[in-house]
Amino acid sequence: MTQTLHGRIALVTGAASGIGRATALTLAREGAAVVVADLEQAAEAAGQTVAAITEAGGEASYIPTDVTIADSVRDLVDATVARYGRLDIAHNNAGIGSFGYTADVSEEDFDRVVAVNLKGVWLGMKYEILQFQRQDSGGVIVNTASLGGILGASLVAPYVATKHAVVGLTKSAAAEYANQGIRINAVAPGAIASPMVETLSEGERSHLMAPHALHRFGTPEEVAEAVAWLASDKASFAVGTILSLDGGATATPYSWNPMSNPSR
Ligand code: NAI
Repeated sequence: MTQTLHGRIALVTGAASGIGRATALTLAREGAAVVVADLEQAAEAAGQTVAAITEAGGEASYIPTDVTIADSVRDLVDATVARYGRLDIAHNNAGIGSFGYTADVSEEDFDRVVAVNLKGVWLGMKYEILQFQRQDSGGVIVNTASLGGILGASLVAPYVATKHAVVGLTKSAAAEYANQGIRINAVAPGAIASPMVETLSEGERSHLMAPHALHRFGTPEEVAEAVAWLASDKASFAVGTILSLDGGATATPYSWNPMSNPSR
């Protein structure tokens, strides 16, 4: 089977876990050399992502990165280019959750979720775009937004605010750079069974799953396939697209389905 990303150089932030790990593996399966970027404290898990790729015959390496720090993100892009000669694909995916009533969220938690989910994505885009311009051969960015980037949700207001902001960054930058051969899009996953979600209580998990017509969590792999498509030339007309992968959660405001009620 033809690999859609044969010979491309990709970086994925938050690739030690969940959606980022699944994307790293999928991009590698499609033929890209993948830089696994994640925090230093996630080095062991990042190493497992690299090992899974190399054991499957792919090429990968880990570069410790904190997406909230400009120098760290610039170094990530520079180190990727030093190692592989160029950068073609970036998946700005690292993100953290927040849970609680708006008035109860601490300033520290608010600043942290904004730093990782919003500033982190913007810093990634900034240094990736500058590198694409230096290469003069274009490139592709896929950001990870969320169902929370499309709709509001109670108990996650700061998180939802950052994901709406990622949607805004994606659409605006997509328009700015499309004519330079730089395609920028985002995925907007619904509730995905990743470590981020597994740490939640049963009540929090069912609150998250409630709007999904499929009545199940998605898998990181179901998101990764969409990222790989957006990153490929097959998505050549996708510019500023926010691709929802949410089991029907944004299809209708009515999550109640009579067919799932056996008494009807
Ligand atoms: P996860 O917790 O499994 O993975 C997140 C990764 O990001 C971790 O490896 C973590 O070490 C890394 N990370 C955190 N802060 C970082 C920083 N400052 N610098 C570099 N790396 C950092 O989470 P998951 O679920 O895979 O989430 C990935 C993305 O998908 C996030 O942006 C999240 O908001 C988004 N998302 C997740 C959904 C879900 O239901 N799991 C739904 C919609 C969006």
